[in-house]
Amino acid sequence: MSKILVTGGAGYIGTHTLVALAEAGFESVVIDDFSNSKPEALRRVSALAGREIPVMRADLRDAEALRRTFSEHTFDAVIHFAGLKAVGESVRIPLRYYDNNLVSTVRLLEAMEEHGCRRLVFSSSATVYGDPASLPLREEAPLSATSPYGRTKLMIEEMLRDLARASALKNDPPEGAWRIDALRYFNPVGAHESGQIGEDPNGVPNNLFPYLSQVAVGRLPELTVYGSDYPTPDGTGVRDYLHVMDLAEGHVAAVRHLLDESLPAPFAEAINLGTGSGISVVQAIRAFESASGKSIPVRVSERRPGDVAACYADPSKAARMLGWTARRNLAAMCEDTWRWQSRNPSGYA
Ligand code: NAD
Ligand code: UD1
Repeated sequence: MSKILVTGGAGYIGTHTLVALAEAGFESVVIDDFSNSKPEALRRVSALAGREIPVMRADLRDAEALRRTFSEHTFDAVIHFAGLKAVGESVRIPLRYYDNNLVSTVRLLEAMEEHGCRRLVFSSSATVYGDPASLPLREEAPLSATSPYGRTKLMIEEMLRDLARASALKNDPPEGAWRIDALRYFNPVGAHESGQIGEDPNGVPNNLFPYLSQVAVGRLPELTVYGSDYPTPDGTGVRDYLHVMDLAEGHVAAVRHLLDESLPAPFAEAINLGTGSGISVVQAIRAFESASGKSIPVRVSERRPGDVAACYADPSKAARMLGWTARRNLAAMCEDTWRWQSRNPSGYA
C-alpha cells in the first residue's frame, strides 16, 4: 500500500482529501501545527476512513520534526497543503506569509531530497492568473499576483519548476527524479456528503459560501453582495465553484499520475482543477436558498477591492493528464455545505 505524507491535513481541503485517499486504498500520515484547524477534524476523518491516521503535531519550518517524520516512515509521495491563505491578511502582514509559506516549503523540499522522496502534489491557486485577460483560463495564460499570498504561490511554483529542471540537468534516474503536480484550484466549496467534516473558518468568513451558510444558520444577519455593476450577465462576480470532494479526488488522481512509472521523468506540471463553468453571486444565493429552504437577506454594496469580474477554468488538461473531471453540480455543493453547517452550527467547536 502506498504511503502519502499530507502536510496541513487537518485543514479544509486536507481533511476531505484524507477521506478520498483512504477510499482509494492509500495510507496517509499527517503533519499539521493546528494553527488554522482543530484535532477534532482529524478524529472525524479517522472515523470516516475506518482507520486511525497518524498525526505529527509540528510546524513544517521545524527541520528536526520533518527529519523525525521522514525517518519513521517511508513515503511514496507528499501532498503539500500547509500554508496561510487569507488574502487580506497577507496584504497587512506580508512577512508572516513569506515566512510561513515559503520557508515551510523549502524545509519540506529539503527533507524530501534528503530522504529520496521526490513526488509532490502542491496546492496552488487560480490566484496566480491575477486579473484574467481572457476566459476560460488555460494553464499557459500569463501569470501575475495581486497580493503577497498570491506571490507566495507564484514563487513556490517557480521553485518547483527549478527542481524539475535541476533533475533533468543531473540526469537523475527515473525513480530519483522530481515529479511534481502543482494543482491550481478555482473556488473549492461544499463538504463531505456525511455532514461530518466541512469548512470551519476562524472568525467572520471572507469567502462567499461559508458566509452564505452562516447567514442561513442564523450566525450572521445578512450577506453583502460586493458589486452588481460587473460586466457579467447579472452584474455580480462570476467564479468557478468546485465541490471539495471533486477536488479531493483530483488529488488522488494526481498522486496516481506521479506514481505512474511509465511516464518520462522528471516534470513539474501546473494543472487547473475547476468545473469550467462560471456561476454568479446571485445564482449561488438562489441555489443556496433552495438547498437550505432558508431565505438569505442580502445587501448590495461597492465592489470589494482586488476582486475580478469573472474567473473560470479550462479544465481540459486535468482530464487529459489526470483522467479527472468534476462530477458534482452546484445543487450538491449547496446541499452538502448546508448539511455540514446545519448539523455543526459552531463548526468543530
Ligand atoms: P486550511 O487553512 O484549512 O488548511 C491549511 C492547514 O495547514 C491548516 O490545518 C493549518 O493548521 C496548517 N498549517 C499552516 N501553516 C502550517 C505550518 N507552518 N506547519 C504545519 N501546518 C501548517 O486551508 P485549505 O483551505 O485547506 O487550503 C489548503 C491549501 O490550498 C493552502 O495552501 C491554500 O493556500 C490552498 N488553496 C486553498 C483555496 C481555498 O479556497 N480553500 C484555494 C486555492 C488554494
Ligand atoms: C478568494 C481569494 C482568492 C482565493 C479564492 C479561493 C480574495 C480577494 N480572493 O477568491 O485568492 O484563491 O478565494 O477560494 O479573497 N462575495 C460577495 N460577498 C461576500 C463574499 C464574496 O459578494 O461576502 C463575492 C465576491 O465578490 C466574488 C465571489 O463572491 O465575486 C466569490 O468570492 P470568494 O468566495 O471570496 O472567492 P474569490 O474572491 O474568488
